[in-house]
Amino acid sequence: MAGQDALFPPPPADGGVLVPPIKCQGIKTKLVPFIRSMVDWDGRGRWVEPFVGSGVVAFSLQPERALLADANPHIVAFYRSVQAGETTPTTVRQHLETEGRKLTERGEAHYYAVRERFNDDPVPLDFLFLNRSCFNGLMRFNKKGRFNVPFNRKPQRFAPAYVTKVVNQVARVQAVMAGRDWTWEVADWQATLGQCSADDFVYADPPYSGRFSDYFNQWDDDESDALRDALLGFDAHFAMSTWVENRYRRNDFVDRLPATTRLETTSHFYHLGATEALRNEVVEGLVLRAA
Ligand SMILES: C[S@@+](CC[C@H](N)C(=O)[O-])C[C@H]1O[C@@H](n2cnc3c(N)ncnc32)[C@H](O)[C@@H]1O
Repeated sequence: MAGQDALFPPPPADGGVLVPPIKCQGIKTKLVPFIRSMVDWDGRGRWVEPFVGSGVVAFSLQPERALLADANPHIVAFYRSVQAGETTPTTVRQHLETEGRKLTERGEAHYYAVRERFNDDPVPLDFLFLNRSCFNGLMRFNKKGRFNVPFNRKPQRFAPAYVTKVVNQVARVQAVMAGRDWTWEVADWQATLGQCSADDFVYADPPYSGRFSDYFNQWDDDESDALRDALLGFDAHFAMSTWVENRYRRNDFVDRLPATTRLETTSHFYHLGATEALRNEVVEGLVLRAA
């Protein structure tokens, strides 16, 4: 029975979603309660995420031991630096206040100067600055691996309340990692799965095929099938996120699932505009091992 009997820590009083400081495409903030309810695991091994992204699932579920990996080295470098105490709420506040002031004075030219600086010499604080001031919170890298998202056209982006919000997010992820045995790795998903054992739980959230692609996100249906088969082929418990359908399309990946799996679904709505007519439903799924 999914979730009910698991020894997994119960959700904190705030509903159990810890919003992290980094944003990325496909962030699962809204799906954390659903994912949590589907995890049936005794917590003995490690919580493994081969596609950790923003980390919102791990930071919300807060396992004692975790292996958190991603092909994107900037995400991993950021969280490692928080874990090591190099990036702290204090350094984040200083950086965002200083760079935010320059952004207000110089406008988008300053955003592009920081982007250039980051692409020549990537450091976690500039990564955070760009991630929190770029267009739509996108994370996109060009063919040469250079961050290429344009400015969001809000020179006043780093107002005091916004800086405090990001600083608090950093403080919370720092507190969650303190005293926990969490390892961050830059790795392709196959290498991460190669380190798993039967006590582990793997939460796999690959890029959605056909949705978005960039330097760190090359993904197609064959790779989705290969990931599904790899997960089925070893002993650890797993849950794999996938989209199921929206108003226009159904994902044929879910219609190709073998009988050794089961699909759990949930739907949510997103708005394209103010009117009810533009309220779109999207069905999201989790592929689990059939009981
Ligand atoms: C959908 S996002 C994960 C979102 C994450 N669960 C969250 O809630 O923030 C997919 C992630 O997979 C990473 N990725 C893409 N291809 C990969 C690969 N071949 N191996 C490992 N990670 C990969 C991307 O960099 C991206 O961070």
